[in-house]
Amino acid sequence: MKHNNAEMHAVGAAHGELGDPRHWTAKRRDFLRILGYGAGAAALGPLVACGSSSAATTAESLREQLMKDEAFWTSVQNMFTLNPDKTFMNIGTAGSMPKLVLDVFDTENRKKAAESGNGYSNHLALRQAVAPGFGVDPEELAFSANTSSGMCHAILGLDWKAGDVVVTTNHEHGGGDTPLNIAKDRYGIEISRIAMPVGNNQTAATYVELFEQRIAQLKAAGKNVRAMMWSSPTYKTGTMLPIADLMGVVKKHGLISIVDGAHLPGMMAYNYADLGMDFMSGAGHKWQCGPGSTGILIIRNKVRASNPLPLPKWFPVHTSSYNAADRNTTAYDVAGSVTTCGSTHTPMFQALAQACQQWDSIGRKKIETYDLTLASYLKEKIAERWGVESLYSPKDDPKLLSALTSFNPFYKNNKDDIMDSAKSSSFVARMLSDYPQHFIIRNANFAVIGAPKDHYGVRVSTHLWHDANDVDKLVDAMWDLANKMK
Ligand SMILES: Cc1ncc(COP(=O)(O)O)c(C=O)c1O
Repeated sequence: MKHNNAEMHAVGAAHGELGDPRHWTAKRRDFLRILGYGAGAAALGPLVACGSSSAATTAESLREQLMKDEAFWTSVQNMFTLNPDKTFMNIGTAGSMPKLVLDVFDTENRKKAAESGNGYSNHLALRQAVAPGFGVDPEELAFSANTSSGMCHAILGLDWKAGDVVVTTNHEHGGGDTPLNIAKDRYGIEISRIAMPVGNNQTAATYVELFEQRIAQLKAAGKNVRAMMWSSPTYKTGTMLPIADLMGVVKKHGLISIVDGAHLPGMMAYNYADLGMDFMSGAGHKWQCGPGSTGILIIRNKVRASNPLPLPKWFPVHTSSYNAADRNTTAYDVAGSVTTCGSTHTPMFQALAQACQQWDSIGRKKIETYDLTLASYLKEKIAERWGVESLYSPKDDPKLLSALTSFNPFYKNNKDDIMDSAKSSSFVARMLSDYPQHFIIRNANFAVIGAPKDHYGVRVSTHLWHDANDVDKLVDAMWDLANKMK
């Protein structure tokens, strides 16, 4: 594993340029820690004490909380090289590498070229550095190519039998649905979809009930319910399906649990050993702001109190490292097997590890709180102007919150325009072209219970490079545009 140590030296290799940390001033130390240098130095200041919405929460109080730490978040915003002529609010589709991540990527690419380096590695040292930020051991954290690739690893590696039923929702992404459909055609599994509620009138208990009811119906019909698969959050409405609560259903029925967590790394500070799902596939290139073609796949490889069910029978399907004899030992580096598939692009994973180190250094909980507070602020402002019924994302149950906000921007008299794909797309395009901030947002279509056609909800991502002023300007522009599109 010699080259693995070399990999780790690359993470934060620029330390040398900064001199001896003992000689940094307190201000410099703080700033550099934010940028990803000097992890492990003194703890950061108090967090923004929010992250959930409640009846007493007003847009004004959320704004105050966001502005409390303004200087800190301005320095975080300066970590990035984003084009200042635009306002990037579609992190749910693509993040952006911070300068230091770009530096590591560039330096390591050049080093690799100069030394004609290879990528034959399971990247253990990098996985050791990254895994604690996700609450798991390195042998449970694999680097994948992205969320979709992780979902293929997870779903297509299971020993499906004809008639096995997977209970999922009708708001899943193609990244998870595609391997499910392959398993259906190849092994004869059945897919049972729950119709997703939308809007603020739902709680975590709604999801427990929906999954419980469906499983009971299937079992009563003699079906072999084998697994649950769901997105937390869904890309369509940003609803955070409550993992801990749904894991209660999984454990009660002895099921395999597969979470499409595309948006979780870099947004939420979850501890995956505590949550205990069998698989969580997330993106490295979205909220975690690593390079494209990177993902983080968590594979349960230990029976812990959080999930006492036996490990599911599963085989790697995309690997060049497999030792059948190891499979049932707890020391089995299952994630190493998934990460290893011929020669990989080492600088890409070194850059991902750098991004993860910066997030750990800022504090994953601090980022989660800030992102969710920005989203709650946006949701409250939308509820004030358009009415709470215009929201597709829930706002009042803290367990259902994510940093994705989806809503219907069209005014009351023409709110059905949200079923007009072209009009919704035109709204998104004009937010970019017609306003000086050039807002980048997106729309996504989804079924709404009782609606004759799909809705094309408008979706906004709020992340660590935004502040309350960005949300204010966005809401004003969207209100103005909705008026023009009446
Ligand atoms: C819920 C969900 N799953 C999967 C994906 C696919 O992500 P990736 O490009 O990382 O494969 C996305 C992308 O937006 C998503 O939102």
